[in-house]
Amino acid sequence: MSDFWADQPALSSRLGKVRAAMGDVLLEDRFPLAGAVRDLVDANGKMLRPAFLLLAGDFGKHRAGLVPLAAAVELLHVATLIHDDIIDNADTRRGVPAVHARFGVKDAVLAGDWLFSRCFRLAAESSNPENARLLARLVGSICSEEIHQDLENFLWPRSVRNYLRKIAGKTAALFSLALRAGAQEAKAPARVVSILTRVGYDVGMAFQVMDDVLDFQATEGEMRKPVGKDLREGLCTLPLILALRSRPAAIEPHLSGQSMSDAAVAAVLTEVRASGALETARSHAARYTERALAELCRLPAGAPRDELRLVVEKLLARSS
Ligand code: IPE
Ligand code: IPE
Ligand code: MG
Ligand code: MG
Repeated sequence: MSDFWADQPALSSRLGKVRAAMGDVLLEDRFPLAGAVRDLVDANGKMLRPAFLLLAGDFGKHRAGLVPLAAAVELLHVATLIHDDIIDNADTRRGVPAVHARFGVKDAVLAGDWLFSRCFRLAAESSNPENARLLARLVGSICSEEIHQDLENFLWPRSVRNYLRKIAGKTAALFSLALRAGAQEAKAPARVVSILTRVGYDVGMAFQVMDDVLDFQATEGEMRKPVGKDLREGLCTLPLILALRSRPAAIEPHLSGQSMSDAAVAAVLTEVRASGALETARSHAARYTERALAELCRLPAGAPRDELRLVVEKLLARSS
C-alpha cells in the first residue's frame, strides 16, 4: 500500500480489501489484458478516491456495500488514467510503463473501455442503482472537460475561471462523487450527504491545483510519472496563467502555437518558478482546503470526522 497511509493503519487495511475486490473483478472474464491492468493496480496508487468513499461511509450505519463500490470507483479512476496517458503522451504511470507504452495505443484504449464496463457492472450489481447512474454521468463530465482542454492546447488561454471549470469536471467531480456515494450507500442523513458532497468538490479542486503545481516543481522520481509535461503538451494550468499575468513579456515569446522545444520549456519553467506563481497557486489550493475543513466542522464530531480531516490536511501538504 502507498506510504500515504502509513499513519492511518486501520484505513490502510480497509483499502487492502478494496484492492482485493478489484483483483477479483479483474480475474472474472478472462480479458486478455487483465494482467496489464493488474500490474497498474498493483503499482501502488494512492487509492484516494476509495479512501474518501470509505470514510464518508463511516457517517452511516450500513457499511456492507462500501468495499465493492469503492472498488468500482477506483476501477473507473484507473481507466481514466490509462486513457489520460494516451491523450497526454505520458509513458510512465505509478512508476511503471504506461499501458499504451507497453502494449500500444489500441490495446490501451480497449483496456480502459473494459475497465469502464467492469466498473459499471460492479456498481450496478452491488449497490443502489443511483450510484451506477452517478458514475455514468461522471464519465461524461470527464470526457467533456478533457475535450475542452484538448481543443485549447497550445492556445494558452488565460482565464482562471475557465481553468477552474475544467479541473472541476475532470477531477473534482470524481472526488465529490466518491464522498457522496459512500455516504449515500451507508444511508447517512441527507444533510451529512450534502456536506460531504461539497467537501469532495473542494478537496478535488485543491488536489488538481496541487497536481498542476507539482508538475512544475516535483521530480519524476517523486511523482512516479513524468513532470514538466503539461507545458510540453501545450496545457495552460494555473501556475502558467498566474505567471503570464506578472511576466507576460518574459514568457509569451516562448509560447508556440504548435509544439514546445526543450529550450522553450526550460525557459518558461524558469520564469514560472521565479515569478512566485507556484506559491500563489498553492494558496489557491490552500483556500479550497480551508473551505473543505470549514464544511467538515459542520459534520457530527467524532472519529470519522477526525480521520477525514487528517486526509484532507495531508493532501494539501503532499510533495508527490
Ligand atoms: C492522478 O491522480 C490524476 C489526477 C487527477 C491528477 P492520483 O494522483 O490520485 O493518482 P494515483 O491513483 O495515486 O496513481
Ligand atoms: C487528470 O489530469 C486527468 C484525469 C482525469 C485522469 P492530469 O493529466 O494532470 O493527471 P496526471 O498528471 O497525468 O496524473
Ligand atoms: Mg495526464
Ligand atoms: Mg498532472
